[in-house]
Amino acid sequence: MKKILLFGIPLVAVLLLAIFGSDLLGLYRLQSYVTTSAAAYVADGGPWPHVVDTCTVCHGVKGNSLHQGYPSLAGQPAPYLETQLHNFASEARRNPNMGPLAKTMSDPQIKSLAAYFASVTPVANHYFQPDARLREKGQRLVAAGNCVACHGAQLMGHDQFPRLAGQGYDYLLAQFDEFASGIRSEPTGVMKNLATGFSPEDRQAIAIYLASLDPKKN
Ligand code: HEC
Ligand code: HEC
Repeated sequence: MKKILLFGIPLVAVLLLAIFGSDLLGLYRLQSYVTTSAAAYVADGGPWPHVVDTCTVCHGVKGNSLHQGYPSLAGQPAPYLETQLHNFASEARRNPNMGPLAKTMSDPQIKSLAAYFASVTPVANHYFQPDARLREKGQRLVAAGNCVACHGAQLMGHDQFPRLAGQGYDYLLAQFDEFASGIRSEPTGVMKNLATGFSPEDRQAIAIYLASLDPKKN
């Protein structure tokens, strides 16, 4: 009896492997696929379902927007993103899309979303075709306006100052107009003063220049 068990068990194991071997290998592959996918999801900002998937529809894959009217979130400073989400929730900044969405977010969720998008490398605004003459005019105005003093040497933003380089053209222009009209405001009032100091044509040229810049991660 003992002898039968001694040889029988390995024999059954060998037989099982011979019959189901390929299936077992398949199962192993499936399991390792699930494990690596799960690891990728965790790296991308937590387990499934991803909150960031909700943002993709409007802000593009990994926060790199393909639409000039929807801002890219990729590579924006985390403190700036956090402030904006709180502003949308409190309606200090009004927007029909972002207001209701931000109101559903908890503080830890805002923190992790901001950290996630800040960590993504921004890509150039490939689909934007700048008018060469207006781009040059915009470049001069941005230099004269000393925008780099707050928005950083490469206009890549830091702390509470957003990245402007490579942001969507329609979005930039809309924000400028909203600072000028007072729909959007910020505590220092600098952006209102600046925006009202430029003519609508100047604002257009500035937005063209900024949208055409290749964002460089500093
Ligand atoms: C239905 C479309 C839509 C969805 C979905 C959406 N957003 Fe937005 N978001 C917008 C629009 C439009 C704006 C620009 C608002 C404005 O013009 O003031 C914006 C602006 C923002 C801003 C401010 C950007 C800046 O440069 O100031 C942040 C931060 C933001 N969204 C985060 C998110 C996050 C995080 C998610 C996912 C949880 C998300 N959004 C989902 C439409 C959307
Ligand atoms: C004294 C500092 C300061 C200077 C100088 C400055 N900005 Fe800003 N800017 C800010 C701050 C702060 C914000 C964020 C406002 C908020 O929190 O809503 C901002 C926001 C913006 C935004 C909105 C971006 C977004 O993602 O929503 C645009 C566009 C902008 N600035 C353009 C400019 C341009 C162009 C110049 C130069 C002509 C300039 N700024 C100079 C402080 C400054």
